[in-house]
Amino acid sequence: MIPELVVEDLTVRFAGLTALDAVGFTVAPGSVHALIGPNGAGKSTCFNVLSGVYRAASGSVRFGDAELTALRPHQIAALGVARTFQNIALSPRLSVRDNLMLGRHRLTKAGFLAAGLRLPSARREAARHGARVAEIAEFTGVGEVLDVPAGLLPYGMRKRVELARALCMEPRLLLLDEPVAGMNGGERREMAELILAIRESLGISILLVEHDMAMVMRIADAVTVLDFGRRIAHGTPAEVQRDPEVIRAYLGGAAGDGAHDPRPADGAPEPGPADGAPEPGPAGQRAEAGR
Ligand SMILES: Nc1ncnc2c1ncn2[C@@H]1O[C@H](COP(=O)(O)OP(=O)(O)OP(=O)(O)O)[C@@H](O)[C@H]1O
Ligand SMILES: [Mg+2]
Repeated sequence: MIPELVVEDLTVRFAGLTALDAVGFTVAPGSVHALIGPNGAGKSTCFNVLSGVYRAASGSVRFGDAELTALRPHQIAALGVARTFQNIALSPRLSVRDNLMLGRHRLTKAGFLAAGLRLPSARREAARHGARVAEIAEFTGVGEVLDVPAGLLPYGMRKRVELARALCMEPRLLLLDEPVAGMNGGERREMAELILAIRESLGISILLVEHDMAMVMRIADAVTVLDFGRRIAHGTPAEVQRDPEVIRAYLGGAAGDGAHDPRPADGAPEPGPADGAPEPGPAGQRAEAGR
């Protein structure tokens, strides 16, 4: 029921810049697959191709029988691919409930005319969607704030609402772009639990972009590592963590090449005493700019 997502030879160019260079990976049905790499590696670009926002120069993205690179965003959404954004994209003045109802729009059958005329069929449908929205809100921990304007919520709650809105599309593949960015430790752990709960109870595939390595290592089944648009490693979290290329890209190990900014001082992984591999940490941030 949940198809594989197969990305092959995906290349994306912006004037003079190859943001993705023949990248490939497969997201197994029902898995949490992490896409990691330093700032500017091409992670969000990949999401933008998968959701139909950017056009690929070449390569393919297959989700079951569908070739996503040929489709428009609403067609991709209709196949059950939902995403959250690196920067929160909720309507701040609308209540949480209305933001979530917007997420159900693609599933709504009654046209605007029927809804506008308050036909019984449209009323019944609205009630059904409302009930499902309440259920998803409960599941994601935003049930208490359904009537609050999204813009008034604290940051961590808004990130949850964004995730809830994506779930309201009843996706088969969920694309999460930095779901715990800007959150504190407690919020991060809760969000990690929620992502695992989504996988457990809905059985859907999750493609996760995240700089929080501790979280990636804890919840991902497979990890693909990008650096400057190229895939430099792929495997289980444990395999990727001890991959020399990954250590170099994250630690700036090729010292003096000037290509990588130093990591934030507070998140610098130290070589582990046992095998010399870095401990997971919030590494790989080149800069906060350019998002
Ligand atoms: N619309 C665009 N036009 C031109 N260049 C772009 C565009 N979108 C992304 N880029 C460039 O493509 C490269 C990859 O960017 P991308 O946003 O995919 O990186 P990222 O891996 O998501 O980084 P971060 O961790 O900072 O979010 C960067 O050099 C970026 O400046
Ligand atoms: Mg990004």
